[in-house]
Amino acid sequence: MPAKSPAPPGFPAEIPSPATLEELHAAMLECTRCDLYQSRTQVVPGAGNPEADLILVGEAPGAYEDKLGVPFVGASGKLLDAMLTAAGIDRDEVFIANVVRSRPPGNRAPKPRELRACAGWLAEQIRIIAPRLVVTLGRFALQHFIPAGKITQLQGTAHEVQYGPRTLTLLPLLHPSAILRNPDLRGGYEQQFVELGRMMGNRD
Ligand code: URA
Repeated sequence: MPAKSPAPPGFPAEIPSPATLEELHAAMLECTRCDLYQSRTQVVPGAGNPEADLILVGEAPGAYEDKLGVPFVGASGKLLDAMLTAAGIDRDEVFIANVVRSRPPGNRAPKPRELRACAGWLAEQIRIIAPRLVVTLGRFALQHFIPAGKITQLQGTAHEVQYGPRTLTLLPLLHPSAILRNPDLRGGYEQQFVELGRMMGNRD
């Protein structure tokens, strides 16, 4: 079978608003709204329970995620899994996504135009899933919701934010890679996940 030709650059011009995540992700897999489509192996749309009470939002896929098409499967993902276990939360019961869905080359930070091009995909996932709580992991995810938000000031406490027509409860946390870089932070980070488990009713 001949290889499928990529969509033209800038596709889709408008992010669709379908009824289901399956339809949304099918469209996302074709996305060429920013230049990252030229270097990615595949789009990483997000994974988990389409009826989750909790969405966790990271930054962008790394090398493993780009290869497998699944978010948080590399070193940061292993740490996140350990934290979810501490929270009494099963990875399959939540939904995990990123603010950018194609790997930035060499894992560089996403550029503003890439963040802008991708933002609507997360808005649509949140509309469809309608979670009770959104946990942001790191600065880029926090600033999707609170553009001038400082992670050092806001992390660890829940905030109500207006997000389009909805009011969302946001819990900003550090990105797991920050804990990998500074293992002294791990104990406090784990406590924040234990607290998250309590907020979700998964822990006493
Ligand atoms: N880091 C992220 O922010 N997201 C992933 O999916 C993997 C690593």
